[in-house]
Amino acid sequence: MSASLSRPRVGVWLIGARGSVATTVVTGCAAVAAGLHPPTGMVTETPAFTGSGLPALSDLVFGGHDTLDCPLPKRAETLTAGGVLPPGVATAVTAELTAADLEIRPGGPTPGGTRSQAELITAFAADIRDFVHRHQLERAVVVNVASTEPASHGPDAPLPASTLYALAALRAGCPYVNFTPSEGMHHPVAAAEAERSGLPHAGRDGKTGQTLLRAVLGPMFAQRALSVRAWSGTNLLGGGDGAALADPAAAAAKNAGKERVLADTLGTVPEGEVHIDDVPALGDWKTAWDHIAFDGFLGTRMILQTIWQGCDSALAAPLVLDLVRLTARSHEAELSGPLGALGFYFKDPVGEGPSGLSEQYEELVRFGRSLGRGEGEGLGEGQGDGEGQGEGVGRDAGSVSGPEATGEAR
Ligand SMILES: NC(=O)c1ccc[n+]([C@@H]2O[C@H](COP(=O)([O-])OP(=O)(O)OC[C@H]3O[C@@H](n4cnc5c(N)ncnc54)[C@H](O)[C@@H]3O)[C@@H](O)[C@H]2O)c1
Repeated sequence: MSASLSRPRVGVWLIGARGSVATTVVTGCAAVAAGLHPPTGMVTETPAFTGSGLPALSDLVFGGHDTLDCPLPKRAETLTAGGVLPPGVATAVTAELTAADLEIRPGGPTPGGTRSQAELITAFAADIRDFVHRHQLERAVVVNVASTEPASHGPDAPLPASTLYALAALRAGCPYVNFTPSEGMHHPVAAAEAERSGLPHAGRDGKTGQTLLRAVLGPMFAQRALSVRAWSGTNLLGGGDGAALADPAAAAAKNAGKERVLADTLGTVPEGEVHIDDVPALGDWKTAWDHIAFDGFLGTRMILQTIWQGCDSALAAPLVLDLVRLTARSHEAELSGPLGALGFYFKDPVGEGPSGLSEQYEELVRFGRSLGRGEGEGLGEGQGDGEGQGEGVGRDAGSVSGPEATGEAR
């Protein structure tokens, strides 16, 4: 993305850089920055965040890792044919897609690959540092938008790929966002490293459709003292995500987040399950159906049904851009640890915080204001002694836990 060299630029390193969400992020950022489309769906473009000091969309520079080698302009063409991207947009931003494509490095592990886990972490971190240095970026945010992994099993199991990338981000001195349900920074090995690093991180699993509705409706039932007897859900989707979630172990990782929202907002886990069916013909379009059985006054039985028909990548991309901007600014403000105030965006948020969408939004706005005031900057206490900041790039000062950044402080 072209931007004035006089303004500090921020890198966005996408893990899964050739996927639907990543391609929509790169295309959408370029299109909105060029004024071709309004920033619909981007919360950070609303007036509440005007004074938060967030990086401009035109100052974002993209790169990343992927295990596929399909060129980004080609991927954007496929998404256009599928109706995910509006006609003409990908063509209008071909230069930006090509520039990002040149910055995508081979991911891993790959079938038959010979590199050890330690070698992969070293190579990933080197790729990120090289990207930052070549583009003279002020900092870079690493965002996981790769295929959902099955949950790993047992302490002796190899580290999941998402955790190798999370460790590489820390080693390169970069803040990290996990937009997927994969383990990433949640793995005990990475969690311990994250704490030592003093870098901010956020996750996990973007809240874009069914769970977004659950985060609104759960509090409604609780606040109206209605008794939810059962909450069942079915999702039909295709695309790469549909194929990945056809694996029951990957679907289980996804569904855990969806159920957590109900447990947190209702105070109990109602009867009912969530199913995810892969329907390749739907492509990136998802139908999510929820069936809620509840009791009213004197035990009168009632039902609420909701049907959400969304385009997954169009729902996810603006949230990824919001998260990049907020996390980059948090890093600049020297906040550290889990960014619980970003729970608005996630199914299974890190840190402490409210679980209803309305309270999460209020918390996010408060957080945005605190970023504008530069809270956390230069306080010179907390965890900061400059150690453990990775070998790489970005901040070089000590880290400080800002009051609205960490769960403990709320
Ligand atoms: N779209 C949404 O609304 C939404 C919401 C929440 C979470 N997510 C999550 O976002 C992720 C991406 O979704 P998508 O629709 O773009 O999927 P996708 O299948 O289109 O893209 C995933 C990309 O990850 C790449 N990949 C797989 N393993 C890798 C590895 N080890 N290293 C590097 N790259 C690797 C794949 O090659 C592919 O290009 C999924 O995990 C999904 O669950 C999406």
